[in-house]
Amino acid sequence: MASKSILIDCDPGVDDAIALMLALRSPELTVEAITVVAGNVPLDLTQANARRICELMQRSDLPVYAGCPRPMLRPLITAAHVHGKTGLDGANLPAPEMPLCPQHGVNALIQQVLAAPEPITIATLGPLTNLAIALIQAPRLIDHIAEVVVMGGGLTFGNVTPVAEFNIYVDPHAARVVFEAGLPMTLISLDVTHQVLTTPDRLSALRSLGTPASQVAAAMLAHYGKTDCATWNLLGPPLHDPCVIAYLIAPDLFHGEPGHVAVETDSPLTLGQTVVSSPSQDSPLPPVNVIKSVDADGLYRLLCDRLAIA
Ligand code: BDR
Ligand code: CA
Repeated sequence: MASKSILIDCDPGVDDAIALMLALRSPELTVEAITVVAGNVPLDLTQANARRICELMQRSDLPVYAGCPRPMLRPLITAAHVHGKTGLDGANLPAPEMPLCPQHGVNALIQQVLAAPEPITIATLGPLTNLAIALIQAPRLIDHIAEVVVMGGGLTFGNVTPVAEFNIYVDPHAARVVFEAGLPMTLISLDVTHQVLTTPDRLSALRSLGTPASQVAAAMLAHYGKTDCATWNLLGPPLHDPCVIAYLIAPDLFHGEPGHVAVETDSPLTLGQTVVSSPSQDSPLPPVNVIKSVDADGLYRLLCDRLAIA
């Protein structure tokens, strides 16, 4: 089977970092470039963290571009209480030596999409600022994108407010631009990622692999998500962003149904809420593949299988 070309837009972040590790060890995917946005921590940290992970995975050849330093209209809020002050607490990786590419992430995204010989897939693991600005700047991108797979939103709950999830809440206006663009899209929300918990058994399995990537992943996961675990009484931190990459590698692990996704941008009470209606309900919005469930054991098997590769 031919390897799928993808672009990854991310805000590393512990779970973004593990998503990058999974992508970079999976022959089903060819990562063409990484664009970075402000989110879990400010842009100067997310871009350096993306490069740290590339170096850890011995992929310092990969182009990494810094995109937008803040959301479209709102001030940046971060999630250092979940990922630590550095964004990768526990990893203890040295400052990266590979250069940051000089081009702006939005321009790089546009150029990469337009230069791809076939429509390309975009994995978004952070606030949607870069993709929204790219779509505004170059609307013809739509014809060159095979699919956008988004980690974001909540179908029944939020993790910043009772109804809003972090990636969408940080830049709800950008999310709205993306969901209204008419692109083929898959949405992986908190309702799915909270099915993928790093239980103590899964953490030990990962640690026992003994490769540099598995060691760093396990060290970060030992710190990460303590607030999430306490808030929802979870058995371990949810692996949000790796779900997007796992979906691209092994879609059979997931079950989805079509729906329309509207993003609330006005109400102070429900700002950033993703409101999903069924395809039979009238909507001017394009249909989205809304993932409802995942085989979590299968996903962890895939992750361990790939992070066992030195
Ligand atoms: C999302 O928010 C970030 O903190 C994580 O990296 C993930 O992308 C989960 O709500
Ligand atoms: Ca993220």
